[in-house]
Amino acid sequence: MRPTRPFRPLILAIAMALPLLSSPSLLAEESSIFSQMATAQPVWAKHGMVASQETLASRTGVEILKQGGNAVDAAVAVAFSLAVTLPRAGNIGGGGFMLVHIAKENKTIAIDYREMAPSKAKKDIFLDENGDAVEKLSREHGLAVGVPGTVMGMSLALEKYGTMTLAQVTAPAIKMAQEGISVTPDLAQSLAGLKRRMSQWPTTAAIFYKADGSDFQVDDILKQPELAHSLSLIAEKGTKGFYEGETATKLINAVKDAGGIMTLDDLKNYKVVEREPVRGEYRGYEVVSMPPPSSGGVHIIEMLNVLQQFPIDKLGHNTAQTIHLMAETMKHAYSDRSEYLGDPDFYKVPVKALTSKDYAQKIASQIAMNKTTPSAEIKPGKLAPYESDQTTHFSVVDKWGNAVSNTYTLNFSYGSGLVAKGTGILLNNEMDDFSAKPGVPNGYGLVGGDANAVEGNKRPLSSMSPTIVMKDGKPFLVTGSPGGSRIITTTLQIIMNVIDHGLNIAEASNAARVHHQWLPDELRVESSLNRDTISLLEAKGHKVKVQSAMGSTQSIMVTEQGIFGASDPRHSGSEAIGY
Ligand code: DON
Repeated sequence: MRPTRPFRPLILAIAMALPLLSSPSLLAEESSIFSQMATAQPVWAKHGMVASQETLASRTGVEILKQGGNAVDAAVAVAFSLAVTLPRAGNIGGGGFMLVHIAKENKTIAIDYREMAPSKAKKDIFLDENGDAVEKLSREHGLAVGVPGTVMGMSLALEKYGTMTLAQVTAPAIKMAQEGISVTPDLAQSLAGLKRRMSQWPTTAAIFYKADGSDFQVDDILKQPELAHSLSLIAEKGTKGFYEGETATKLINAVKDAGGIMTLDDLKNYKVVEREPVRGEYRGYEVVSMPPPSSGGVHIIEMLNVLQQFPIDKLGHNTAQTIHLMAETMKHAYSDRSEYLGDPDFYKVPVKALTSKDYAQKIASQIAMNKTTPSAEIKPGKLAPYESDQTTHFSVVDKWGNAVSNTYTLNFSYGSGLVAKGTGILLNNEMDDFSAKPGVPNGYGLVGGDANAVEGNKRPLSSMSPTIVMKDGKPFLVTGSPGGSRIITTTLQIIMNVIDHGLNIAEASNAARVHHQWLPDELRVESSLNRDTISLLEAKGHKVKVQSAMGSTQSIMVTEQGIFGASDPRHSGSEAIGY
């Protein structure tokens, strides 16, 4: 098997020379005042369940299920509700991925409603005259905004796989936006924390802070009448109520005033893509996940394939030996990510090679049991020839055995922070997920090269990993998480905690998490990981960094005893609700 592409040492060299640029306060999932020490027990239900990061949205979804809607109807209602109740990540101005399992046809579809780069976008749009990447341009500027996909994605999902109308599933969101919601501790804290980015835009400040500029307090009422109006136009006119007419004009004016290049045609031409999910096998279970332009599914399967070579159950949960093997595996996967992953409509992503068992064996054979291999010595794998080919997650299952696993985002908390005047719609800064320059880390410290270079109409590479694990052909575990680069490893750990370690879904969600992304060469762990384990990992050569909580998983497990769900305890306000 010969390499088809040489590794570009430039990516490694530049990235190693740069400090990790991401500031923890940028990220949606890290703004919680709650530690990861909270405990919970699984929620049980007989008929159906919704697990989401915000209680009102979970309730909305369950109401839809009770009214006879299916998992897709409920999921779309949850998505529109979160745009109102969890404005830092729920959205109509962003994009994401939805996995839908249709029980009757025994098929799973991956709906890609990721943002697209405006048609005029070019490789060097985020570089200054010296060729250096300018963070502000890809994060807090009109150029940061990708063409939003959420409304088109939800509408397609509903039309093809749901049973209700857009008017029915948007009604709860419209009501909450119009009448207002009570500000939760989570929302109050998050808005106060993001004030700098948000209040540079007067249109945003006018909605999310009080008239005198002060912060909303817990139990204050937050009304979003303009967002209610924008949602009503969608309810009335469908996707045309967003991608054309009044809303479209306002969106484009806002992006242009902020220095962007998006056009009305870009909005009109936005396309949702239905894709074949990526599939893998792990200890007798089938893992079905999101294909490129997500890197999540490919790397979860790649990592599971490697870890399957080791007796993880015997080595034990969160022992130094297990975490060592996981960290070494993660480094290989994220190294491959930097080289091979991008929008498959623009770049041939070697999905088959990366997810093959042969390749996993090769990686496994390079892992030393007692010593870490420095990232500088790990390079993207030499693959077989190419075959032609703040964020929030929610999971839904219904009484018919249908399941939805959905992750969507504005990228950072509240995206670019820019609300398009008169729309109440927060605009994403998803363009930062492109590689602005080879080797220069994005907001999550991720590096990349040509595969993920900026190009007109291209989708930026994502880590979002909505996943469904199947047992005997039926959904067994529906899961996913926010967390930028850490989404992939967080989702991996939920799967391993359940399959390798036999934890129930609440234990699996609560357990201390670890993360390695090749660059920077450090093993990030949560503070609840015990100190003895950390010492043993350090003895193997790992640079261990204890940092804030990672992820906010929303998971549902379907068992013979019924449906069990768990919302990550790392954030207040999230809830799994069943009926
Ligand atoms: O698509 C991605 O990979 C990122 N835009 C996700 C950002 C994210 O998870 C932020 N939340 N914590």
